Amino acid sequence: LAFSTSSQVQAPTNVKNITVFGSGLMGAGIVQVAAQNGFQVTMVDLNEAALKRGQDIIGSSLKRVAKKAHPEDAAKQKELIEKTMANVKTSTDSEAASKDADLIIEAIVENLETKQKLFSLLDKAAPEHALFCSNTSSLPIGDIAKATKRGDRFGGLHFFNPVPQMKLVEVIRTEQTSQDSFDSLLDVCNRMKKTPVSCKDTPGFIVNRLLVPYMMESLRIVERGEASPKDIDVAMKLGAGFPMGPFELADFVGLDTMKFIVDGWRKEGKIDENLVAPVKLLDDLVAEGNFGRKSGKGFYEYNK
Ligand code: NAI
Repeated sequence: LAFSTSSQVQAPTNVKNITVFGSGLMGAGIVQVAAQNGFQVTMVDLNEAALKRGQDIIGSSLKRVAKKAHPEDAAKQKELIEKTMANVKTSTDSEAASKDADLIIEAIVENLETKQKLFSLLDKAAPEHALFCSNTSSLPIGDIAKATKRGDRFGGLHFFNPVPQMKLVEVIRTEQTSQDSFDSLLDVCNRMKKTPVSCKDTPGFIVNRLLVPYMMESLRIVERGEASPKDIDVAMKLGAGFPMGPFELADFVGLDTMKFIVDGWRKEGKIDENLVAPVKLLDDLVAEGNFGRKSGKGFYEYNK
């Protein structure tokens, strides 16, 4: 291993400055929630156009939050939005943006080499005490952490989409994550008004580890001609009390994302192979470019 636990550095007990890498769907949501709860946040992406998209995501989400908080009071709505945005800076300079960070949260593309490359650079640019986290859904946190010399200050903070609405954060500790790093991460989640749960560095952590095999088995029921997607969705909503059926959920998550996760787990070989066996129905839809909601069609059709 590239790091040793003997040179442990105290993680910050009172995180103030957070730098978020990636201003996409997840990154923008994390920036918003952190800024709303008083953290000083820097949002980093590759170019100004990407940052603008992130700011737009935050802008329209904040409008909804402000309306809900102060339904009849336009002045208070404006104040909430301005107060939140005053806590957000943007940057395309990864090194400069990490200089004052107490915590770095990475939410860039789901690619191990890209994430490792970024963290290796940040390991040199960020303060010694800064905590590093990845929001990855499918990559081992320990593999990303290997690119740095701060395995004791490295963990996973796995948020859920849409970040402003979803209360849960899975806090992942690797074998190297120190107790005070872990405690700091729990504290950050609580200050973001989220509910943290703790999980070891295992495929899918808790939520996806259970959800993905369940969704794959739903596909197999359809493939065997036993029930239709619509009937399975109705069954799971009315019979199991789930807010969305597995096909509605698959379309929401993105069929390409689901396939990416399952293919990755199969290759990794840490999960019972029957649970992640390929399903032709899924592979065909993805090959045809039908990714679910985001492409307008998956198991259901959507107005784009
Ligand atoms: P996205 O594609 O919406 O956004 C990724 C952003 O990262 C893009 O704006 C891209 O320009 C930027 N980026 C790429 N390389 C960069 C670099 N070196 N420095 C700075 N910015 C860079 O992706 P999304 O959906 O927000 O996912 C991001 C991460 O969050 C992934 O690791 C994914 O597995 C994870 N995740 C996604 C969830 C989802 O429902 N979409 C749920 C939970 C986790």
